[in-house]
Amino acid sequence: MEPTTFILFGATGDLAKRKIYPALFNLFVRGKLPQAFSVVGLGRREWTDEVFQAAVERSLYQFSRTEPADKEKLNAFLEAFRYSVLDIGREEDYRKLLALVEAREQALKMPPNRLFYLSVGPEHFEPIADNIRASGLGSADGWKRLVIEKPFGHDLASARALNAKLSESFAEEEIFRIDHYLGKPVVQRLESLQQANPVIQALWTNRYIANVQITASESVGVEERAGYYDHVGAIRDMFQNHLLQLLMMAAIHLPYDSSSEKVRFKKKKIMEALVPVAQEDVGQQVVRGQYTAGSIGGQPVEGYKSEPGIAADSMNDTFIAARLLIDNNDWRGVPFYIRTGKRMNKKSTRIVVEFKEPLKQAWSQSEDGVAPNLLVIEIGPGESIALRLNTKEAGAQGGFKPIHIDLHSTPADSPEAYENLIGDALKGDPTFFAHWDEVELSWQYVQPMLDAFAENAVPLRSYAAGSRGPAESDALLAEDGYHWWFDEESEALPKNESKEGANYAYHANH
Ligand code: BG6
Repeated sequence: MEPTTFILFGATGDLAKRKIYPALFNLFVRGKLPQAFSVVGLGRREWTDEVFQAAVERSLYQFSRTEPADKEKLNAFLEAFRYSVLDIGREEDYRKLLALVEAREQALKMPPNRLFYLSVGPEHFEPIADNIRASGLGSADGWKRLVIEKPFGHDLASARALNAKLSESFAEEEIFRIDHYLGKPVVQRLESLQQANPVIQALWTNRYIANVQITASESVGVEERAGYYDHVGAIRDMFQNHLLQLLMMAAIHLPYDSSSEKVRFKKKKIMEALVPVAQEDVGQQVVRGQYTAGSIGGQPVEGYKSEPGIAADSMNDTFIAARLLIDNNDWRGVPFYIRTGKRMNKKSTRIVVEFKEPLKQAWSQSEDGVAPNLLVIEIGPGESIALRLNTKEAGAQGGFKPIHIDLHSTPADSPEAYENLIGDALKGDPTFFAHWDEVELSWQYVQPMLDAFAENAVPLRSYAAGSRGPAESDALLAEDGYHWWFDEESEALPKNESKEGANYAYHANH
């Protein structure tokens, strides 16, 4: 890995503390940081290097998945960290920053490869990119990269404007747009799931698949983010980015040895094949919801409109479910259902692929208990991939029962999303970042929904906190003869079920 200076805007912030420092530390422990590595943290607070290093150290004790038990190792890691005060709009601070970066590069005999990480609010993206260019920070004789957090725009027009602005300072191949769902270990494994299993690859079409369900439910509410969330809603916060990325990752066919260009090309093709939903038709394809008071885990919780900072007449969506259609040869006729919501019954992010039941007609009524085959990809909080098949119990009276074949169980110390993504950005591997084409096509797809929501042309359905979302979300699937899988408590995800079919089980690590 090439020597790198990691320049972090927002070094005193929450994301840095919770995710970025722990990710860097774990990469360091695993020997995945460049040999020559320098970090410059930036913030408005008047911190010294020592205060900064102490804050980084504290964050590791609090949030790192591996404890910084080895003092020598910890000190070697912290030694790379320097701090510079920076007011985002003050040119002079960028000159100071450049002097510090250059001094460190000389001291460590490093070429000027610079990665700029923007862990700041979106209103700061443009001025920072401008100042990086104007100060000369971005024009040294090495490579430069820009790592940028969401949200990337508020709608199609603002996303385009932001991209045009960033393009004045960085080329597309230098921009790494973080979508942390793409860093999740199971999402990164979808590629090898197909590549290593021709059986699954062969089944990955409308010939065998009935529908695909993508769920990201959360039990948390709006938390302390009312100011942000009430202007964004579930559609911008989760659907336009994380969930459409999951759809792309689930729908692409990945041949062996896929390059990042190939992955991106295929994702773009999926977005281009999505059947657009006209503004007047949004109500037929999309369910929009907002939570009312209810209870979670036996505790009463308030409704959205009573949350601190939320207007009593807010029409913001805290839930969205949608039916999406992909008009290409592989997926024509297969609905993709997507839903996400706050204050639902449980935290669960998963993809369920339901296979067709070609034998249903042929089998007699008496042979009930045959359920469709499913591929269940649990992305979080647990991680698993399991294929559900049916087996017939021994004996004349034996009925059918489902068994699960484990295709992946994650080791306890699996890296976190940010660790994967920061490691990739340092290597310059763009595979698991959102390319501008994908971002633009996602906004383009979502824009008529935003417009319909803004005009209240789609009813805002209510659902009690702690429930599975509005009843209309069930009705959306029922219209097509389907239901959401694994919603009922009794219907635990495969990893939680007793492994009765253990002799069929294949464990990845065997
Ligand atoms: C963030 C959203 O991008 O993703 C949050 O802004 C949401 O509202 C979070 O809670 C969910 O991420 P995860 O990794 O917990 O599923």
